[in-house]
Amino acid sequence: MDIRHERFSAASRSGLRYGDAALRLEDVSLEDVAASVATPFYCYSSASIRSAYERLSQALAPVGASICFAVKANGNLSVLSLLAELGSGMDIVSGGELERTLAAGAPAAGIVFSGVGKKRGEIRDALKAGIHQINVESAAELDAIADVARELGLRAPVAFRYNPDVDAGTHTKISTGRKDDKFGMSGEEILDAYARAATLPELDVVGLAVHIGSQLLDLEPFRQAYTHLANLVMTLRGRGLSVTRLDLGGGIGISYDGGPAPDVEDYGAIVSATLGGIGCALTVEPGRWLVGPAGVLVTEVLYLKEAGETPTVIVDAAMNDLMRPALYGSLHAALPVRQNEVCGDRPVRIAGPVCESSDIFGTYAGLPALSAGDLLAFTCTGAYGASMASTYNARALVPEVLVEGNRFRVIRRRQETAELLVLEEPTQWQIAGLAAEGRAVR
Ligand code: LLP
Repeated sequence: MDIRHERFSAASRSGLRYGDAALRLEDVSLEDVAASVATPFYCYSSASIRSAYERLSQALAPVGASICFAVKANGNLSVLSLLAELGSGMDIVSGGELERTLAAGAPAAGIVFSGVGKKRGEIRDALKAGIHQINVESAAELDAIADVARELGLRAPVAFRYNPDVDAGTHTKISTGRKDDKFGMSGEEILDAYARAATLPELDVVGLAVHIGSQLLDLEPFRQAYTHLANLVMTLRGRGLSVTRLDLGGGIGISYDGGPAPDVEDYGAIVSATLGGIGCALTVEPGRWLVGPAGVLVTEVLYLKEAGETPTVIVDAAMNDLMRPALYGSLHAALPVRQNEVCGDRPVRIAGPVCESSDIFGTYAGLPALSAGDLLAFTCTGAYGASMASTYNARALVPEVLVEGNRFRVIRRRQETAELLVLEEPTQWQIAGLAAEGRAVR
C-alpha cells in the first residue's frame, strides 16, 4: 500500500512503502532490521539514491554538467562507493573526507576540495593524491596552496569561490552566499587574485565556483547567482584570462514537510539559461537532494509522559543521532513502522533521552496512539543525519544499514562505549594519587 501521510511528500523518492502492515524500505521490513541490529539505526535505500542520481544526471545532460556528490551529507563508505559506481565525482571539505572518499574507491581525479579553512597538510595530501580541483576561498589561502604546490613540485588546479552577495532565502545557518557570510571572495577580490594566480607556474587557474547555501526551496536565487557568475566570467575573459570550468555548488532543497520543493528539471533549465552557452565545463555539488529522501532513522518508543499540555513520547534516538531539529528547528516526518490507520486523539511531542530541552524531534499530529516498544521511522534523514551525529552524553554512534531490493547489510556497526573510552588516558598524577589510596583508574 502507498504511504498516505500528509506531511511526507518525498515518500515517492524514498523507497518506503507499507507491505503486510509493516513499513518497508524497498522490500526489506524495518521490523526485521530492528530485530537484527536493535534501535536506533539509520537505514538507506540504494534504489532511491540510484534513481535520484540518474534523474539529476538526465536533468543536467543538456548542459553536460557533471556531478560531484557533497560527501558531508553522507560520508558512509558504502554510500560513497555506490555513488562512485554510478559515475559521481566527490566534493570534499577536509582531509578526513579525502581519506574517506579514496577509501571508498572513488578516483582522485573526480574530487573537488572546497571549504574556507584548508590546512597545509590537507592541501598537501590532496595535491599528492592528484585531485581534480581545489576551490580557493581567500587570497591568503591562495598563497598557502601555491607554497605547498611549489614545495611538492606539482601544479595545483585552482578555481576561485565567488561570493555573489545573493540571499539564498534559506535558514540563516546554512546560507553562504551573502557578502557577510564567511565563504568565498567578492568579484573585486577575485579579479585581482585571478590575474595574480595566472602568473604563477605552480598554479593552474581553471575557473570559478559558487555555492550560495543549502536547502533552497526557491530556485530564483540560483538564477541570480549564476547570472552574476556569467558576468564575472565575461569580465575575466575581457581581461585576457582563461576560464574553463565552473562549479555551481549544491543546495537544491527537498520537501521535509510536504510543502512544495523544486524539480531538478527546472534547476537544469536555469543552469542552461544562465550558463549554457558559456563554453565552460560545468559541475554541480549536490548532497541533500541525492541522499536525503533515501534514509530513515528508526527509533523505539521508551516511555509516555502525560505531564503538560502535550503528551511527550520518549524515544531511544536523540539529538546526538539527528541534530537537525535541535540545530535548525527542522521537522522530520515520523511514520509508525507497524501500520496503523487509526490516529491518536491528540498531537504528541517526541523527545529523546539527552539532557537538553532542545532534544525534541517535534510535535506530531496524526500518529497512531503509541505505546512502549513501538517503532517509528523519522523520514528524509539520509543527508546530514549520521554524518552530523556526535557522541554527546556518551551515546555511541548508531549503526547504518543499506538496503538493496530484499537484502540489507550493516554498513557501519554500532560503536561500543569502550571505543569512546579508549582515546582517553588518565594523567600520571591522577594514577599516582589514586594508587596512593589503593585505587586504579581502569
Ligand atoms: N557544496 C558546498 C561548498 C557546500 O558547502 C555544501 C553544503 C554543498 C555543496 C552541498 O549542499 P546540499 O546540496 O547538500 O544542500 N547541515 C545542514 C546543511 C549544511 C550544508 C553545508 N554545505 C543541514 O542539515 O541542513
